[in-house]
Amino acid sequence: MCGIFAYVGPREAAPLLLEGLRRVEYRGYDSAGVAVANARGAVHVRKAAGKLDSLARLVAADAPAGSCGIGHTRWATHGKPTDDNAHPHTDPSGRVAAVHNGIVENHLALKRRLTDAGRVFASATDSEVIPHLVEARVSAGADLADAVRAAAAELDGANAVVCLDARDPRRLVAVRLGNAGGLAVGYGDGEMFVASDLPALAGLAARALPLAPGQVADVTPEGARITDLSGKPTAAAPLTLPADAVAAAKGGYRHFMLKETHEQPEAAMNALRGRIAFDSPALTVHEAGFTDAEAAAFKRVVLVGMGTSLFAAQLGALYLEELARIPASAEDASEFRYRRPVLDRETLVVAVAQSGETADTLEAMHAAQTAGARLLAVVNAEGSQATRLAGNTLLLRAGPEIAVASTKTFTNALVCLLLTALELGQRRGVLDEEAVTAHVGALAHLPALLGEAIALNDGAYPRLAKRYGAMRRFLYVGRGRLLPIALEGAMKLKEVSYIHAEGMSAAMMKHGPIALVDKETPVVALAPAHGMRDKMLANINEVAAREGPVLAVATAGDDEVAALASDVLWTPPGAPLLEPIAAAIPLQLLAYHVALHTGADVDQPRNLAKSVTVE
Ligand code: F6R
Repeated sequence: MCGIFAYVGPREAAPLLLEGLRRVEYRGYDSAGVAVANARGAVHVRKAAGKLDSLARLVAADAPAGSCGIGHTRWATHGKPTDDNAHPHTDPSGRVAAVHNGIVENHLALKRRLTDAGRVFASATDSEVIPHLVEARVSAGADLADAVRAAAAELDGANAVVCLDARDPRRLVAVRLGNAGGLAVGYGDGEMFVASDLPALAGLAARALPLAPGQVADVTPEGARITDLSGKPTAAAPLTLPADAVAAAKGGYRHFMLKETHEQPEAAMNALRGRIAFDSPALTVHEAGFTDAEAAAFKRVVLVGMGTSLFAAQLGALYLEELARIPASAEDASEFRYRRPVLDRETLVVAVAQSGETADTLEAMHAAQTAGARLLAVVNAEGSQATRLAGNTLLLRAGPEIAVASTKTFTNALVCLLLTALELGQRRGVLDEEAVTAHVGALAHLPALLGEAIALNDGAYPRLAKRYGAMRRFLYVGRGRLLPIALEGAMKLKEVSYIHAEGMSAAMMKHGPIALVDKETPVVALAPAHGMRDKMLANINEVAAREGPVLAVATAGDDEVAALASDVLWTPPGAPLLEPIAAAIPLQLLAYHVALHTGADVDQPRNLAKSVTVE
């Protein structure tokens, strides 16, 4: 995850920026840089590929003087991790410098327009369009904050940006667009900060304001003026930063589960970084490490995992079947390890896990290894046993997940399995360039899509939690790609609220479980546009006819589903393959709010451990 740290105040900026960047280092990065504006109206940039020590050496050798600066740790999306592609970027005159976290989805169109107007670019990044867009406006006489707002209005996607202007060296302007890439303004004593997350501000700022999507902060050493994108001032009540380390790590959220749910857009972006070239159809899931010949030789894929990871594996199997046209199945690792599964060198066994330490998953991997199968670990924890055991590893890159209930590692596992399916589909010659280009285009929008999924039902959850938190059993139903999401939704509710929930295919209901349906047994029906919606409408009708409350998950604006259901949770319209990933989010938030309502221990539910290292 890219990290941002910025400072304006009486002190020298460069050492503070380096300290701030060390605090966001944990997010992962492959290059870093700082830009400092001095009182004489010049901006000096130092940036280097590699670790922060390389940047620190540059700064030590030739310190950029000045007390207003922006810093960045970059994890490459567009363009390789080189010095030129590192942030901050400036316009060619060097007047405006910017740091950016996100994906400018329309950067190609913007770059084309700017190039046609004679502008020259120095990097292969999407981010570089930002200082160009801002500088064009300030050079035409616009105020910096107005220029940033106008430039922001041109950017598609979920993005966080901080800019400075050499001619205005006591000022930073920060903007957050969409739900990806957090940004918080820190209030010190006569000095101000901007950082990617609240923990980075601890000890430096007494109070902090996390920016909401669509907010702009115009920051000077005296304070910050917060507006919306039209320039209208918006209410802003900074939080007092907690002294205790656990509370600080929650970054202003009441629970880790809520924080981690909100981190999903950025986590998804990190799963894509460097694995897809957004400017061309090239898809290089290089960590998965297959050659074309190896990919072509696989006759079958078996995915193994437990709990939430098994549900991710189930959707992964559907992606593989659909995109790589390879027989694929998902298996409960604890059952698989005790069978005598038929495996050989032409079988690829994919272990899916957050911890990489789950006993049953590790044993299933051993069994596969003994049978000579090829192993791929799709795992969050770097260096875990699963990654050491597998020949190949694709890291989830979701960042640390503290809440026992998995959220961001579930959606990131889905993203990684989708990438694996696309890679195999491409290497096996199943997907042509046109198809891959279309999928890559859709994936560029994924972080923004997940941000929309978080924002869509804001405000509805407490009301729904009050109504549904009073019920003692739930059915969750879906079809096709939405079936694993229904199973995971039921799991989330069970584990954090202790209310019984069962997930199943909507068709299966008639074969038994529909006998449970009554006024006290709600059915959560996943019926987004591409989720076999018309069949789901029939299933919803069946439940409604038996007086069962239906809480539907439907694509925003689907009035037909809304009219049939008792309540609706909206999910944003998205590409068919991405729709289930977005649909997982309202179910996570529903479970969270029901748990709050029932008073359960959200982050550490009773009887559960984060990592199940025994059978
Ligand atoms: C549920 C949850 C568990 C884990 C399962 C496997 O929210 O987190 O069901 O998915 O214990 O753990 P990993 O993924 O670490 O193998």
